[in-house]
Amino acid sequence: MKKLTILALAAAIALPMSAVPKKRPVYLDPEAPIEQRVEDALSRMTLEEKVRILHAQSKFSSAGVPRLGIPELWTTDGPHGIRPEVLWDEWDQAGWTNDSCVAFPALTCLAATWNPDMADLYGRTIGEEARYRGKDVLLGPGVNIYRTPLNGRNFEYMGEDPYLAAKMVVPYVQGLQDNGVAACVKHYALNNNEVNRHTTNVILDDRALYEIYLPAFKAAVQDGGAWSIMGAYNLYNDEHLCHNRRMLNDILKGEWGFDGVVISDWGGTHDTRQAITNGLDLEFGSWTNGLSAGTRNAYDNYYLAKPYLDLIKSGEVGTEELDDKARRVLRLIFRTAMDSRPGYGALCADEHYDAARRIGDEGIVLLKNDNATLPLKLDGTKKILVVGENAVKMMTVGGGSSSLKAQHEISPLDGLRAAVPAGVEVEYVRGYVGDVTGEYNGVTTGQDLKDDRSADELIAEAVAKAKDADYVIFFGGLNKSDHQDCEDSDRAGLELPYDQDRVISALAKANPNFAVVNISGNAVAMPWVKEVPAIVQAWFLGSEAGNSIADILLGKVNPSGKLPMTFPVALNDNGAHATGSYPGVKRDNSDIWDLEYKEGILVGYRWHDTKKIKPLFAFGHGLSYTDFAYGKATADATDMTADGTITITVPVTNTGKVAGEEVVQLYISDPKSSLPRPAKELKGFKKLSLKPGETANAVFTITADDLSFFDPAKHEWVAEKGKFVASVGAASDDIKSTVNFNLK
Ligand code: BGC
Repeated sequence: MKKLTILALAAAIALPMSAVPKKRPVYLDPEAPIEQRVEDALSRMTLEEKVRILHAQSKFSSAGVPRLGIPELWTTDGPHGIRPEVLWDEWDQAGWTNDSCVAFPALTCLAATWNPDMADLYGRTIGEEARYRGKDVLLGPGVNIYRTPLNGRNFEYMGEDPYLAAKMVVPYVQGLQDNGVAACVKHYALNNNEVNRHTTNVILDDRALYEIYLPAFKAAVQDGGAWSIMGAYNLYNDEHLCHNRRMLNDILKGEWGFDGVVISDWGGTHDTRQAITNGLDLEFGSWTNGLSAGTRNAYDNYYLAKPYLDLIKSGEVGTEELDDKARRVLRLIFRTAMDSRPGYGALCADEHYDAARRIGDEGIVLLKNDNATLPLKLDGTKKILVVGENAVKMMTVGGGSSSLKAQHEISPLDGLRAAVPAGVEVEYVRGYVGDVTGEYNGVTTGQDLKDDRSADELIAEAVAKAKDADYVIFFGGLNKSDHQDCEDSDRAGLELPYDQDRVISALAKANPNFAVVNISGNAVAMPWVKEVPAIVQAWFLGSEAGNSIADILLGKVNPSGKLPMTFPVALNDNGAHATGSYPGVKRDNSDIWDLEYKEGILVGYRWHDTKKIKPLFAFGHGLSYTDFAYGKATADATDMTADGTITITVPVTNTGKVAGEEVVQLYISDPKSSLPRPAKELKGFKKLSLKPGETANAVFTITADDLSFFDPAKHEWVAEKGKFVASVGAASDDIKSTVNFNLK
């Protein structure tokens, strides 16, 4: 794959002696400026060679230019670990024995850390795994905004807030790309649910587009310097997003100056002419499976393959777009496959497991903790009863393209058992039977989860054992099967599946020392919230899941995660559902679904706050085993100019007995504005680490950008003069103090 020198040598040998270059051509000179290398390579390529680098040659690779010693490009899923090698033309794994990886926590968990250093660690570490596996492009991270809790793919994204997602995606991209592995930020854009994902045409106003759905992509491109981006499956303006003139030509490449490669989602290309003119650069996963479908070589029949070449040869289209696309792909190859400086990477290194565990530790959210139920007090504890399928079920297999072949995955039960001291028994009972499958593209969990007992029998067993346990911990939530947290389908409702509510209520009655650990990438309904003293949101945590969960339950780590999305009480408390927008309306005599984002900019907490709908757990909420006291927030001035700044400072003290971390959040409100604005919007956050008794300041610098809204009539960001309110707090529904200031 990467035998550059050998390939180059072979190319040279194949040429007649007189043509052997005397000195190394510019495109092969790693010291030469990349644009010179690109132009040099391009000038040497034939028409056919230029077309050949614009489409796949296998499931996950595209061709290089063998004659010039330019290597092929290898992509891989996905955002949470390096996908096992697949067969050349198939989704099925190839059955290698040396491609097991570290599974990192899902991106919802990363977002829940509210710690950009964790995003840097994540990107850097997964980049080393990709590099080791010879992959040049990592298909991730995903930053589609969490619009509805039904979206099957929310677990792969970074929550509902554009500011948080933007701040978290940038270090991920930078850390990853430092390894010479390109980020492929996905799925650009407006792919906010899975149902009808190939046929949904999103309709929304420019305010929502620019204020909510684009900022994280823009930050990834402009601040993170992402080298590639993946078009989404669905449509906008009646054009598929993999060849969408406005989104790709006008916004991404035009307004943002993106110089990287637009890669289609697999099978997201539908039309050669649109692909040529509307910004697609590299086509993957089209209709053919390369074997039973297609004529001679199926990959030649990709939209950007022979059909493109034919149009050029017949004179119907010119070569301007071709050169632009080829330049971008060459640039990507030089940045990745042909950059030897980052070294060779590493797979399954101890440091990678440590990173996965730290990210998990920091992302777990303590939602509720009455009577200081957690951490578990082990003095005098003889028996902990663990109940629930998710205590044992492997979660790294399934869920769609992010499915992994993890070298190991520590279950919550095993993690807890390993962490408790000798003499404490951890007994397990099933509680409920959910999903017993465990296979994805040839990777199997090897678990036999079959249990034929009835729900009543399982509950009776759990309740009987719960009565004489010192603690009862229920592990439930969702899993990676269809209609759960899984690609290509959405959830059927907000409720927990498999009648888990009944099990939880029964256990709450049986034992007051009770905690529920919800494992999911989505908000779930909790009709039993008042019955249960302690609730933990634990996400999909990957290889180190059980260790991270035990760290939190036993208090080895003080929880510091905060929710990156709102947990609504009921589905209709969410704007996408309250407005009747989801999942859109099917057009007559057509496959297309028109999906209008009727809630506009009021996504997530913006909807709840503005409409005054109390959530079950608010955006930004998360408790600690210690207490934090917030002092009064102060501003360094009362007035600010459009090109100036204002600094808000708030002292925070750890008033409890253990060290802890607190995410201090800053929200801005614009009480009077010519266009409607949400009640408040996140514009800053700081994670402070405080020892008992220690005080530190959270300091926020506000610029006019933080006060602006997108004015669709002017097509620009506008900060209007007048009064603004800065609210500082521990969650979007827990504001500790406010400061007013004026924009002059
Ligand atoms: C998914 C992408 C993924 C690609 C390749 C598609 O179905 O939407 O996120 O990267 O497959 O596996």
